[in-house]
Amino acid sequence: MDRAVVLIKPDGIQRGIIGEVVKRFEQKGLHLVGLKMISLTDSILDEWYAHHKDKPFFRSLKEYMMQYPVVAMLWEGIDAAKTIRLMLGPTLGRTAAPGTIRGDFAMSQQYNLVHASEDEAAAKKEESLIFKENEIFPWEKLDLPLIYSDEEMK
Ligand code: CMP
Repeated sequence: MDRAVVLIKPDGIQRGIIGEVVKRFEQKGLHLVGLKMISLTDSILDEWYAHHKDKPFFRSLKEYMMQYPVVAMLWEGIDAAKTIRLMLGPTLGRTAAPGTIRGDFAMSQQYNLVHASEDEAAAKKEESLIFKENEIFPWEKLDLPLIYSDEEMK
């Protein structure tokens, strides 16, 4: 199974959408194997957003991400990152389709409520920045045979 890290960002915490986000991913059939609240630090964010370090919004992005804690989650599923990013919608919230999380709750480019790993490689890096080994729980999800076919599970 693939993994993806999701952060409910400080604006998402303030907007009270933690339950809504978890509900959507659970309903989809994704498998929650890690969940914690954490205050992101300058050094975590330097690594997390290394690919944005030369962007003009880098400093304000880091300040925003440290303003309040975030809720970090680790989700498993086939094509987890791709699936979750479809459910989030594009970065600019006001262009996101209704039915997506940003489409239903966001207007902004920066304040777009939720982050999800871009791909498997990003997920691995983000997982290691946030979760210790004993904070990951690969419990047996009994309805997986109803979510995926045997062929897909191979
Ligand atoms: P995300 O795509 O999760 O990760 C990078 C974040 O940078 C993005 O969400 C936004 O929160 C933020 N971001 C992207 N583009 C801009 C921008 N032009 N101005 C301010 N913030 C931005």
